[in-house]
Amino acid sequence: MSLPEEISKRKTFAIISHPDAGKTTLTEKFLLFGGAIQTAGAVKSNKIKKTAASDFMEIERQRGISVATSVMSFEYEGKLINLLDTPGHKDFAEDTYRTLTAVDSVILVIDSVNGVEAQTKRLVEVCRMRDTPIIVFVNKLDLEGRDPFDLLDELESSLGIKVRPLTWPINKGKLFKGVYNLHRRGLNLFESNKTKIVDEVMSITDLADPQLDELIGEDANQLREDVELIDGVYDPLNKEEYLKGQLAPVFFGSAVNNFGIQEMLDTFIDLAPTPLARPSSKGPVDPYGKKFSGFVFKIHANLDPNHRDRLAFLRVCSGTFERNKFFHHTRLDKQVRFNNPYSFLAREKSVVEAAYPGDVIGLYDTGNFKIGDTLTEGENFQFQGIPSFSPEIFREVLNRDPMKSKQLDKGVRQLTDEGVAQLFIQQPGSKKVIGTVGELQFEVIKYRLENEYGASCDLVQKQFYKACWITTTNDKQLDEFMRIKAAEVALDKDDNPVFLAPSAWMLQMAQENYPDLVFHFTSEFKTESEVNP
Ligand code: G4P
Repeated sequence: MSLPEEISKRKTFAIISHPDAGKTTLTEKFLLFGGAIQTAGAVKSNKIKKTAASDFMEIERQRGISVATSVMSFEYEGKLINLLDTPGHKDFAEDTYRTLTAVDSVILVIDSVNGVEAQTKRLVEVCRMRDTPIIVFVNKLDLEGRDPFDLLDELESSLGIKVRPLTWPINKGKLFKGVYNLHRRGLNLFESNKTKIVDEVMSITDLADPQLDELIGEDANQLREDVELIDGVYDPLNKEEYLKGQLAPVFFGSAVNNFGIQEMLDTFIDLAPTPLARPSSKGPVDPYGKKFSGFVFKIHANLDPNHRDRLAFLRVCSGTFERNKFFHHTRLDKQVRFNNPYSFLAREKSVVEAAYPGDVIGLYDTGNFKIGDTLTEGENFQFQGIPSFSPEIFREVLNRDPMKSKQLDKGVRQLTDEGVAQLFIQQPGSKKVIGTVGELQFEVIKYRLENEYGASCDLVQKQFYKACWITTTNDKQLDEFMRIKAAEVALDKDDNPVFLAPSAWMLQMAQENYPDLVFHFTSEFKTESEVNP
């Protein structure tokens, strides 16, 4: 197959949701459709119900064995689908944000009872930074959820995106009868069945058809009214708007009952983009370009303390990746090659000879990779758009055992390279401050430092409000700021200056007193990421 044929066959996406909305369940149903698994219950939830580090590590250890759950590739209707997994725990949200840099579209799952939730908003914000196309699945229609029109309004107002329903629910909860496909004009009657795979859809092109009254009784008139309203209020689906991330098609169903999913999957296959260009320091990198390039968006630690090797996940962005061929690691300016790169077809980890744009491969790494690293076929550029977001909680690392300071140093660096947390170095004395979005990450860091590096430390709370990356054209002002604010500034992993603002007010003061400095809540800057006091 030629390179363009390989590319046009691929769709790389992630399922995202607020915890408990049904992401794991939907993932499993997709894999059933794709034939990648045969039985329900085969996908292990990566949720951690009890937030203790030891539970988390146990789950990670189990997942480490079948690391294939990080990427699940399967074939469906002649397409190769790469589904990237995202963590289920909110404290690991940053991992999810990074994974979103490696996909071309997403499916967003909403719980029909809870509607848009906190994590839903943050995830959609990240998608909107890159205009990632979104399909929405409103789940749990078998429960007494909210009114579907209200849910659509909420999606539009709180996510800032236009929506267009493509299926429509007929009643809900115990009275849920099924969905009507507005696109194909067909009726899909609900049956509660956790093992069935294929939906039987009846074609009812004319809603006036009396057969509809026979099939769904009194709900027929409500459906007729609803559909008239939808056709009047919502514009027809515009594929261009969807591809620009401005309009989200919406489906309704019940993941656990495998209901309403096939309709969404078929539309996904039809609409979702094939691998797209990716931003870089030399401009957008076209997937159809002949020369290989790709970037690392996730590093999975091998949790066996005797082997400190890791698996780096690389998204292929252009050209062809080949096994045993030398590629250029642009940050280290070094030639590297891989004799056993992995792909993840049908949940089996197997060595691949070649990989194409849209594919994700696993590369064994002994410490060469950091999140965001670029590999090319000789060219010198860096992929962009893999930002770090300001952490929420900060702790200073204090060594407890002076004999083990080297181990501690190495451990902290490697764990932060993996993206477990962010590292900020303060002067004088190279003080290490680590920032995370949740408490659980600190527990994991302590646990891993002790178990994998033999280093013990205290993590002392620092009262910072946000980390703000600083840019300026006035170096003199920046130097002065770094000197005067020494206790509140640091360098990030790439030596960029960061203000660890103690409070929103202090940040505002800094903005007023140093007008030539621009403060950002993310490490890569679009104008909207600037901090507005
Ligand atoms: P997540 O990955 O987004 O966190 O959610 P997950 O799929 O694990 O689903 C969260 C809970 O919601 C699970 O119940 C799951 O069975 C349930 N669920 C998923 N889809 C539906 C649906 O369509 N209808 C209903 N009624 N429930 C649904 P759990 O009790 O937390 O776990 P489990 O013991 O059932 O696995």
